[in-house]
Amino acid sequence: MNIQALINDKVSQALEAAGAPAGSPAAVRQSAKAQFGDYQANGVMGVAKKLGTNPREFAQKVIDCLDLDGIAEKVEIAGPGFINIFLNKAWLAERGEEALNDERLGVNTEAAQNIVVDYSAPNVAKEMHVGHLRSTIIGDAVVRTLEFLGHNVIRANHLGDWGTQFGMLIANMQRKEQEGADVSMNISDLEGFYRESKVLYDEDAEFGETARNFVVRLQSGDEYCLEKWKQLVEITLKQNQRNYDRLNVSLTDDNVMGESMYNNMLPGVVADLKEKGLAVESDGATVVYLDEYKNKDGEPMGVIIQKRDGGYLYTTTDIACAKYRYEQLHADRVLYFIDSRQHQHLMMAWEIVRKAGYVPESVSLEHHAFGMMLGKDGRPFKTRAGGTVRLADLLDEAEERANKLIEEKNPELSAEEKANIAQTVAMAAVKYSDLSKHRTTDYIFDWDNMLAFEGNTAPYMQYAYTRVASIFKRANVELADLTQPIVITDEKEQALLSKLLQFEEAVQSVAREGQPHLMCTYLFELAGMFSSFYEACPILNADEATKQSRLKLAMLTAKTIKQGLDLLGIETLERM
Ligand code: ARG
Repeated sequence: MNIQALINDKVSQALEAAGAPAGSPAAVRQSAKAQFGDYQANGVMGVAKKLGTNPREFAQKVIDCLDLDGIAEKVEIAGPGFINIFLNKAWLAERGEEALNDERLGVNTEAAQNIVVDYSAPNVAKEMHVGHLRSTIIGDAVVRTLEFLGHNVIRANHLGDWGTQFGMLIANMQRKEQEGADVSMNISDLEGFYRESKVLYDEDAEFGETARNFVVRLQSGDEYCLEKWKQLVEITLKQNQRNYDRLNVSLTDDNVMGESMYNNMLPGVVADLKEKGLAVESDGATVVYLDEYKNKDGEPMGVIIQKRDGGYLYTTTDIACAKYRYEQLHADRVLYFIDSRQHQHLMMAWEIVRKAGYVPESVSLEHHAFGMMLGKDGRPFKTRAGGTVRLADLLDEAEERANKLIEEKNPELSAEEKANIAQTVAMAAVKYSDLSKHRTTDYIFDWDNMLAFEGNTAPYMQYAYTRVASIFKRANVELADLTQPIVITDEKEQALLSKLLQFEEAVQSVAREGQPHLMCTYLFELAGMFSSFYEACPILNADEATKQSRLKLAMLTAKTIKQGLDLLGIETLERM
């Protein structure tokens, strides 16, 4: 249940009853400190100002109209007119019981929407690199969260599977074939094959000619070219899938909706934009001029949608793609998890989409941008030799480091168990260190930080779970054995339970803002509150009723951490 929303409704009603204009915002927030109660209503001051009355007096009027019977045990005016709300212990305890007995931990589903999530989107014939890591991990966490809330999520892996580069790749495949070499062996090193093809293309005029010829043939649907192209796509997908599986990312081949899918829409889109007077011929190319964007000379910026040679562009595809997602997939909302450097590209494509009326304003197109992954030196993350880091190599290194760590910490475990723990911790560390940062900023990739057992890290959170879970294992109890109700007697218990019941608020904020770090922060704070509770409130040595009540709080904590981490795509361990 969303307590914040409930209280917000109640305060809104009270505001109106006290004479505020309809729809005045109650602005109810979680309180930052226990002394301010569990929730705080901040809307009074704004309304009082509008009405020209004294805010503290008006706050009292609102409180007189506020019906929180049985929900709050104390409501206070603070400072210039904040209203602090302290929840009733018995009411909290009941909500706690409900959450504990519900598989969804009391989290409601939302009115289901069709939500398309564009994420991962690596390129064919290239290895996934660290840039795709961010999109993949962040997108997948948001996808899981939206699904948990009951939405119909369409995962769209906008694979870069089209473009002129396929000409040189096919030309090189043909060359290998003619030399009698095993083509599939050769292209399994995608990065190397790509590089070799590029060198040939740049240095060998005849090869270049053949390559350009293949581009034309591929575009006109030539059998031979399509077959070679498919081979490249398949091998790329297979390699990507290995990364997805290792990372516990929910993407499969079924989610591939690559650029090539929109090919046959492109001529129609260009013709339509011309007909609508949005696109014009310029120097043989077709261009849309946007008044909203100015070039260096202060003139409307031109977006090329078809080149002079007839070729289409990345932007043309994204225009068609948005149209498709609305018309064919019936999207209510489309979330794009793409590097912030592509922001302007998307904004211009969508400007055109809106002007052409392809997607109505009621459907939100959202760019959830993210910054770059940087090395410890604050520069773009690179290999020692200065190349891009292959995702697979990065994951290997994470596992090696986690292996060493587990070996030091738990030398007594069996080799198999150690390997399993190391693998789970390694992937979690890579993911969590990314997810826990505010998405839009660049972030520093730092092995020591991400594998630390202290601070807002994966090992800390996974360990927090294992520790809580071990308490009821030691007590040798299951939920069904706990017949005594939750009773709140200590303020640490109250703080913990109040936090536990904010889980739904955390889930919803991730869904709304596409910011998984909100969940990380929530879980980290929850784990901290559990520690304070555990220090202050003995469990196993308490009298039976208290022990059971506290075990229930511990159990709800364990379940909440597990569910929260699961929404982030992070696995927990029963032992570590
Ligand atoms: N393939 C692109 C890249 O690697 C990302 C595609 C993002 N999605 C989109 N609809 N443009 O940069």
